[in-house]
Amino acid sequence: MKITKAIACATAFATLALSSTVSLAAGYPERSITMIVPFSAGGPTDTVSRLVAEAMSKDLGQQIIIENVGGAGGTLGAGRVASAEGDGYTLLLHHIGMATSATLYRKLAYDTLNAFEYVGLVTEVPMTIVARKDMDAKDLKGLIDYAKAHKDTVTVANAGIGAASHLCGMLFMSAIQTPLVTVPYKGTGPAMTDLLGGQVDIMCDQTTNTTKQIQGGTIKAYAVTSPKRLDVLKDVPTAVEGGLAGFEVGIWHGIYAPKGTPKEATERLSKALQVALKDPNVAARFAELGTAPSSASDATPVALKAKLESEITRWKPVIEGAGQYAD
Ligand code: MLT
Repeated sequence: MKITKAIACATAFATLALSSTVSLAAGYPERSITMIVPFSAGGPTDTVSRLVAEAMSKDLGQQIIIENVGGAGGTLGAGRVASAEGDGYTLLLHHIGMATSATLYRKLAYDTLNAFEYVGLVTEVPMTIVARKDMDAKDLKGLIDYAKAHKDTVTVANAGIGAASHLCGMLFMSAIQTPLVTVPYKGTGPAMTDLLGGQVDIMCDQTTNTTKQIQGGTIKAYAVTSPKRLDVLKDVPTAVEGGLAGFEVGIWHGIYAPKGTPKEATERLSKALQVALKDPNVAARFAELGTAPSSASDATPVALKAKLESEITRWKPVIEGAGQYAD
């Protein structure tokens, strides 16, 4: 009799535990969610994150709170999420740096392809090659000539090895076959402050951080890295027009969760992301900043997983060819 009762109790407990796990996911989210942005506030990743988080919060009925964790080109913030509880209440919004860091850092605190669950792609942002407003060059060729002539003193800002600004700077230096002095920041928000003040000379940064400054004439734009000119920056030639053959790079962004986050949670988050990206205000704001929302089919776990895997493969030989590593 006692054994039967014990088995009945154990079965009831197991059922309750299972149903409470399912009901947690079914009622998910029941409290606010933290979204880690692996760069400083005020930069392009932060801008994209706050826009999307606000729109997702409306659909989820719970606040998504942004926490900026900058440093080491985005890998500190990514590492924070990799080691977080997979309960659906911690997210990471990161970009192409997730893929490039897998090669750049030979001692990462996490295994890029096994430490995360996937929510979906958010947007792909073009970059701009910009300089302090008093830069003495009238076009991209002039900027390249100036950089070569002053290679020991010209400074190029970036957000650390693994950042999109680092990748673009690395491609630029490879294309002109001239190493330049690089100045790392915890994000291109603070880097922009120094560019505006003339404390640093050149930066390759995303249109989500540079468009308004270019339009306002507070920095000089020499090229965009998109295949064709941007509606919001019609007078800025593409890097290919400026003579850098094949110089095209788009900074794709995705939302991740720690490994073990329930599928019900990542699917619910992907739905909220798709709703957010269809929000006319989000699309309008992205357009003002030179970018556009990812499609509903790209705002899915399977699409982000495929993108990350293919981009790691794509950038590995490029990074190895440049011989730049973080350690
Ligand atoms: C980068 O990778 O350069 C980041 O976008 C910088 C930032 O968001 O602050």
